[in-house]
Amino acid sequence: MSSPTFIFTILVFQLLFTSQPCHRILTSAAGGSWQVLQKSIGVSAMHMQLLRNDRIVVFDRTDFGPSNLSLPDGNCVNNDCTAHSVMYNVYANTFRPLTVQSDVWCSSGAIMPDGNLVQTGGFKLGERRMRLINPCNDNCDWQEFLNVLAAPRWYASNHILPDGRQIIVGGRKQFNYEFIPKGATANGTFSLPFLSETNDVGAENNLYPFTFLNVDGNLFIFANNRAILFDYVNNIVVKTYPTIPGGDPRSYPSTGSAVLLPLKNLKAAAIQAEVLVCGGAPKGSYQQSLKNIFVPALNTCARITITDPNPQWVMETMPMARVMSDMIILPTGNVLIINGAGSGSAGWEQGRDPVLSPVLYRPDNAIGSRFETQNPTTIPRMYHSTATLLRDGRVLVGGSNPHAFYNFTGVLYPTELSLEAFIPDYLDASFNNLRPIIVAPKSMSSINYRKLITIQVTIPGTVVENKISVNMVFPSFTTHSFAMNQRLLVLGNDKVTAMGNSTYNIDVTTPSTGNLAPSGFYLLYVVHQDIPSQAIWVRLF
Ligand SMILES: *[C@@H]1O[C@H](CO)[C@@H](O)[C@H](O)[C@H]1NC(C)=O
Ligand SMILES: *[C@@H]1O[C@H](CO)[C@@H](O)[C@H](O)[C@H]1NC(C)=O
Ligand SMILES: *[C@@H]1O[C@H](CO)[C@@H](O)[C@H](O)[C@H]1NC(C)=O
Ligand SMILES: *[C@@H]1O[C@H](CO)[C@@H](O)[C@H](O)[C@H]1NC(C)=O
Repeated sequence: MSSPTFIFTILVFQLLFTSQPCHRILTSAAGGSWQVLQKSIGVSAMHMQLLRNDRIVVFDRTDFGPSNLSLPDGNCVNNDCTAHSVMYNVYANTFRPLTVQSDVWCSSGAIMPDGNLVQTGGFKLGERRMRLINPCNDNCDWQEFLNVLAAPRWYASNHILPDGRQIIVGGRKQFNYEFIPKGATANGTFSLPFLSETNDVGAENNLYPFTFLNVDGNLFIFANNRAILFDYVNNIVVKTYPTIPGGDPRSYPSTGSAVLLPLKNLKAAAIQAEVLVCGGAPKGSYQQSLKNIFVPALNTCARITITDPNPQWVMETMPMARVMSDMIILPTGNVLIINGAGSGSAGWEQGRDPVLSPVLYRPDNAIGSRFETQNPTTIPRMYHSTATLLRDGRVLVGGSNPHAFYNFTGVLYPTELSLEAFIPDYLDASFNNLRPIIVAPKSMSSINYRKLITIQVTIPGTVVENKISVNMVFPSFTTHSFAMNQRLLVLGNDKVTAMGNSTYNIDVTTPSTGNLAPSGFYLLYVVHQDIPSQAIWVRLF
């Protein structure tokens, strides 16, 4: 397999296809494939956010030496003339440097209803800043606003709210939350004792809390090994969920990951919502890894119906143990568990045994037949790696830097500047007969709540009408194994009308409230028999 000819063939394929994102470089009937998009974008993708013009904002940190990409026009910030952020253009497969003025390390953010990325916090000078990027095509850059945050926010989680604000939850030594933009009644911080109750002495294990907007408008907040349902308007804990069986921590630095599973049956009187938490590190693993003892990661997922009157965690076993993986919801509603390590913890030099194979989780299958291991990458994606869904259904993967500096040689798991794509099976050309192509509209700049809209698609093969679903995805802000704001709405279809010529009009009702789907830009996919179209961007408000 590793003969020089074989390696040469792979290199030629990589050269041929690097600029053509839709081709695969590995062929495999099952289990997806991988494609290196850029060997180096100059910075390590610690944080990633997809914008509505198919650009990705990438940034790492500013306090660990020069990156491998110069700022334009000989510009420098605080004597550093290199960039720590780039704008990656997905379909041109090009990137350009962006300028951050202060440290954005371990920060958070969300796309606002107008499509702007609003990022908050970071380190030192950056810890109370807000930064904004407007998704213009080729000449916009970061704008920074000083002292916007009431408290320093480092390792906090943000969520977009139905009223258009963002909530910022926690951060190191911050057992509270706040909102942006500020208003007369929401200027300061609001205490959240749950975050101090889940703060393990010597390890924390409560950072980057897994925060999701529940269908009732309350926030589900998970930290360490348990969760609450929280009324952020009145500062009231509405419900306390049980501890995950076993009690091991799942939050940073014992970093597992979590998703709000796809929201379905949206016209039901009582809509259910479920959360899935996977991986993490056993109790004490963080402290052990500081002594160079790397404890195997957790191999369990815990799933809970957060809307149940008497909710209980249901445990499942993954094909392998994982810490620091990302969980990305695919357009089909299946969950991709990708990146990470088999032992150790988040932190400098604290992870071992890279897990190269993603795992697909099918939430609707019977328990016991939900996981499917996918084909591996060759690039370890350890601490500070990220993943995000693209409009065409690929998953962009980048970053990995377990070092306090940019270290490219002489270290385990060198600082990664590359970008790769994981290409799920559903993109295989053999499924093109089932694949919808959205013909009209090409985008929608204003769709209202609870409205019937029509999407026109072509599908060449035989169509099973009740297996056509319109699915909407809110683009996530991904960092430290958590995709903030990630949610997928399964809208199904109200009616499918064959128009002849393999063309179908799909009538579908948009979500009824901002609690289900906060206002903003969504990727709208049409999925037929588990094969997704490319998405169009729609703006819901
Ligand atoms: C960083 O840049 C240097 C000089 O341009 C180059 O030789 C090196 O390969 C780059 N390193 C990586 C990891 O891309
Ligand atoms: C909000 O905070 C700002 C900055 O700290 C302060 O100037 C302003 O007076 C505050 N407004 C209210 C209504 O508390
Ligand atoms: C990592 O990079 C830093 C800064 O360039 C350097 O001082 C340090 O020696 C490097 N570490 C290793 C193990 O090479
Ligand atoms: C149907 O498709 C054929 C071939 O692409 C095209 O020539 C014809 O105009 C189409 N008819 C309609 C009604 O769209």
